[in-house]
Amino acid sequence: MKILNSQLSTLNSQFSTLTSHLAPSTSHLAPRHAQVLSPRVAYALWADTYPAVAHNPLMRVEALDVGTGSGRYVPLLQSTGASVVLGLDFSLAMLTRGVGNRRICADACRLPFKRGAFDVINASLMVGDVADLGAWTREMARALAVGGHLVYSDFHPSWAQRGWSRTFRDADGTLHEVSYHPHAIDDHLDALEQAGLCVRAIREPRVTRSFDPGIRAFRRRWNNPQVVVVFHAVKEP
Ligand SMILES: C[S@@+](CC[C@H](N)C(=O)[O-])C[C@H]1O[C@@H](n2cnc3c(N)ncnc32)[C@H](O)[C@@H]1O
Repeated sequence: MKILNSQLSTLNSQFSTLTSHLAPSTSHLAPRHAQVLSPRVAYALWADTYPAVAHNPLMRVEALDVGTGSGRYVPLLQSTGASVVLGLDFSLAMLTRGVGNRRICADACRLPFKRGAFDVINASLMVGDVADLGAWTREMARALAVGGHLVYSDFHPSWAQRGWSRTFRDADGTLHEVSYHPHAIDDHLDALEQAGLCVRAIREPRVTRSFDPGIRAFRRRWNNPQVVVVFHAVKEP
């Protein structure tokens, strides 16, 4: 009952926020003596003046993919219906391989955007490149609108305990290692709280079953470990 009540009061406040957003732009749509039309007739009449671009706040979701790299998450963000999806990365080389027509070269800890510019910020596996987790989280919170969502993943803290490293091969086949900053889950939680972001969910997924012999061997050798940690947090009013 308690849970139900708190859900209802959350829904209530969301509803009043929504209606107060919509009221100024829709009040002209309901004059007292307007004739009620069927949708078919109404749209035939409305077509000339119907706004050419998204015109209510819910349709104007702006999303930022921080540390976008080659833009793997851009199509996913676009598929949510976001009207604007920006990909940001400090590596011009990664950005030039990227997808999406809105790409920006900048440092995640100094975003070139005004406060509250985005409704959704996604950051996949990039915060491990950032030494100052607190500064990064504060910057994400600054760029988020009130009620906005931050979804990000990091290498699981157990990587450091297991002594795992991040390696890749370049175009010539030479093996390299990328340094990273391990962050404990408590450090994430502290940073989120101090930035005014309220955690809604944490996930620690494992590699899913596969027929790939490499993945099977990995799961066996490490006893199917958690490999990343994913946070979903919301900027509270
Ligand atoms: C492991 S890649 C992940 C790319 C992409 N998010 C994905 O999941 O496919 C990390 C990316 O974050 C970028 N990055 C790291 N630190 C950054 C910073 N401080 N500001 C902007 N981009 C950064 C790197 O250049 C790199 O493209």
